[in-house]
Amino acid sequence: MATKTGPRVAIITGCSSGIGLSAAVTLAKDPAKGYIVYATMRNVAKKDNLEKAAGATLNKTLFIIPLDVTKQDSIDNAVKVVFDKHKRIDILVNNAGHGSSGYVELVSEQQMRQLFDTNFFGPVNLMKAVLPIMKKQRSGRIMNVSSVAGITAWPFGEIYAASKYALEGFTESLSIGYRAFGIWVNSIQPGPVRTDFIANMGSANNQPEFLKLAEEKNIDKESREICQKVIQLLVANPNFEKENQTPEEIANVIKESLESKKPHLRNPTSQLRYDYAKKYFVDPYGDEFCETIVPHIIPDSLKK
Ligand SMILES: NC(=O)c1ccc[n+]([C@@H]2O[C@H](COP(=O)([O-])OP(=O)(O)OC[C@H]3O[C@@H](n4cnc5c(N)ncnc54)[C@H](OP(=O)(O)O)[C@@H]3O)[C@@H](O)[C@H]2O)c1
Repeated sequence: MATKTGPRVAIITGCSSGIGLSAAVTLAKDPAKGYIVYATMRNVAKKDNLEKAAGATLNKTLFIIPLDVTKQDSIDNAVKVVFDKHKRIDILVNNAGHGSSGYVELVSEQQMRQLFDTNFFGPVNLMKAVLPIMKKQRSGRIMNVSSVAGITAWPFGEIYAASKYALEGFTESLSIGYRAFGIWVNSIQPGPVRTDFIANMGSANNQPEFLKLAEEKNIDKESREICQKVIQLLVANPNFEKENQTPEEIANVIKESLESKKPHLRNPTSQLRYDYAKKYFVDPYGDEFCETIVPHIIPDSLKK
C-alpha cells in the first residue's frame, strides 16, 4: 500500500531474527511494492539470515542498517540516515525485545533496568525520534510489538510483563493523542511464537536452569514447587502446540494492520489469542484470569 508519493518508508527494529526478520521480508516482498524497508539490527554482523531471506529485494526494497535501541546516538543516526534519503518516515515497527523469567527475588535491579531499556525505553525513544517527522507529514504508523504478557501476566514473568504492560500503556495514551495528526499508534499481542526468543533469554532465564539456581540460592521449597506447577500448567494446556505461531503469521498480522485504513489499537494475532483476550477484558476485577491459574499451582503444604 504505497502513499501518493510512492512506497511507504518503514523502519523495523530487531531484524536479525524472528518476528523482525519476517516482518521486514514480508513488507519488502509486498507484491504491490508498497514499502521500502529499513531492516535494522544492533549487530550487522548477524545479517546473513536476513540477507538470505530477503533474496532479490536486498538493496532494492530492503536495506540493512545498524540500530541498537538502547543507545540514543544509534537511534538518532538510523532515523537521520532514513530521513536524509527519503525526507519522510511512514512506518516504525518497534519489534526488538528480550524475554525474562525467573524468581523475582533473584533478579537484580540492573537486570530489570536492562530489560526495560530494551523493551520499553528503546521503543519510547524511537517513537520520540520519529513523531516530529510524522507530525509534519500529518501521517504515520507506529506498531509496537508487545505480547500477550502485556495484557495478562503469568507468574515468574513479572519483569517481562511489566515492560510490556508499560509499552501497552504508553501505546494507548499516545495513540489517542496523536490521531489528530493522522498518526496511528497501535500494538500487537502475540502468544508463543516459534523464534529464538526463549533461547535468547540466556541460561539464567531458562526454566530448568532457574529452578536449579533457585535451589542453589536457597529459594524455599514451596516456591520451587509452585514454579514446577506453573510449567506443568503451561505444557499441559491442550492448546499449547496450537498456540505456537510462526513469525510469518505474526508478520502478516503486522502488514494487515499497517494496510488497514482504521487499524485496531490492540491486535491479537489469531482467533485463539482474540478469544483469550476477550475472556479477560470483560472482567473489570481481573479475578477470572487469576482464578484460571492460582488453584492449580498451590503446593499441598500451603493448602488451607
Ligand atoms: N517469540 C515469542 O514467543 C514472542 C511472544 C510475544 C512477543 N514477542 C516479542 O516479539 C519481539 C521479537 O521477538 P522474537 O520472538 O522475534 O525473538 P528473537 O528472535 O530473539 O528476536 C529479538 C530481536 O530483538 C533484537 N534486540 C535485542 N536487543 C536489542 C537492542 N538493544 N537493539 C536492537 N535490537 C535488539 C535481537 O537482536 P540480537 O540478535 O542482536 O540479539 C533480535 O533481532 C520481542 O519484542 C518479543 O518480546 C515474542
